Amino acid sequence: VDFDVKDQSLAARGKVRIEWAGAHMPVLAAIRDRFAKEKPLDGLRVAACLHVTTETANLMLALQAGGADVSLCASNPLSTQDDTAAALVEYGIPTFAIKGEDNDTYYKHIDCVLDRDPAITMDDGADLVSVLHKQRVEQMSRIVAGTEETTTGVIRLRQMAADNVLKFPIVAVNDTPTKHLFDNRYGTGQSTLDGITRATNILWAGQHVVIGGYGYGGRGLASRARGLGAQVIVTEVDPVKALEAVMEGFRVMPMIDAARIGDVFITVTGDKDILRREHFEVMKDGAIVANTGHFDVEINKDDLRALTTETREVRDHVVEYLLEDGRKVYLLADGRLVNLAAAEGHPAAVMDMSFADQALTVEWLAKQAGPLKPAVYDVPEDIDREVARLKLQTMGVAIDELTPEQVRYLGSWQEGT
Ligand SMILES: NC(=O)c1ccc[n+]([C@@H]2O[C@H](COP(=O)([O-])OP(=O)(O)OC[C@H]3O[C@@H](n4cnc5c(N)ncnc54)[C@H](O)[C@@H]3O)[C@@H](O)[C@H]2O)c1
Repeated sequence: VDFDVKDQSLAARGKVRIEWAGAHMPVLAAIRDRFAKEKPLDGLRVAACLHVTTETANLMLALQAGGADVSLCASNPLSTQDDTAAALVEYGIPTFAIKGEDNDTYYKHIDCVLDRDPAITMDDGADLVSVLHKQRVEQMSRIVAGTEETTTGVIRLRQMAADNVLKFPIVAVNDTPTKHLFDNRYGTGQSTLDGITRATNILWAGQHVVIGGYGYGGRGLASRARGLGAQVIVTEVDPVKALEAVMEGFRVMPMIDAARIGDVFITVTGDKDILRREHFEVMKDGAIVANTGHFDVEINKDDLRALTTETREVRDHVVEYLLEDGRKVYLLADGRLVNLAAAEGHPAAVMDMSFADQALTVEWLAKQAGPLKPAVYDVPEDIDREVARLKLQTMGVAIDELTPEQVRYLGSWQEGT
């Protein structure tokens, strides 16, 4: 197997951890068992650019069980679990990912999976699609379709489609309810606080926690931080989201006001410069800043550096910025996804659904009779309902079914008061 991982001797540990995650991913396991029997992906070449975690490993193994020829590179230079990468190589999956790899290696690894001439791409942040469109144009006619895992990727892909430059179809897995309603909210909410806790060991109770963005990720974070006893402040640009945050009982204000109050700042917007010079200038001494949005653009690091006289690493993933006026600001994980850099990303139980969506979407793509037009597609509703049904079943939760009379009632307009 072709590969580039940190240390192959870590494989045994990786395998045990992959098994542990697998035990918390019953929906994906059921799909994997069916795939193993039916081989719906026989011979299909899939190139995946995802966070190289134990949960992703379980997705790779499910696709492999279905007969796919799958290869994997990282979708973030800091999120790779080196033992997982080593284990995947032992499972016969070409894997190209090393935690902390530099930018050149990151892109070299993307080339490695694209060199395998995939028919399906699987992205978390649209890097495969972007490299294909910019540097590997000749290859695109052989790509049948792609999938996209995160909000930031979907925003970019929709923009490419609107500008008529998208050259092959993509399914926006992020946008299906069993993905973003659970993964972005419960997964990001819990794992981001986990990452910050592991990096800093702070006590959340009593802290003023400022959350930039009250989308799916922000909502999860805000409610979980409150659950730990923090006083939560939300910043937004969307009046509806801001109103929702107010009604949920959070304080809402512009970042310039929140910047003076916050002890911990967490950005989760998919937008840039949420924290910038004017905010660093008024922050309290000792403020902690972290990002859990996809790219490291939400905290303007150049602005922070411009105000800084000295930096030093004070703990793993925690860098102290000593500002000219003597205040200190602590930047976590270099402004990259803190939940993946300082913790392990989302818990397996929530990735179970997101990756079940991915696996069933790849199967759906493989079954398409003819080519789909280049556009961004939603995950078929049947898949979403099937994933929710299976998840409930594995949790031992039963629900009611519509009676024939109810089906008739809901499908009619004649019956009134
Ligand atoms: N860390 C993870 O594991 C993880 C998981 C899921 C999503 N993400 C990423 O997190 C980001 C947010 O995802 P989401 O699903 O919550 O998106 P979302 O679209 O639901 O929410 C983003 C929110 O940010 C707000 N926003 C935009 N610009 C802002 C600004 N200048 N100030 C304040 N608020 C602003 C928007 O109005 C929106 O409400 C994306 O980059 C996504 O890719 C990360």
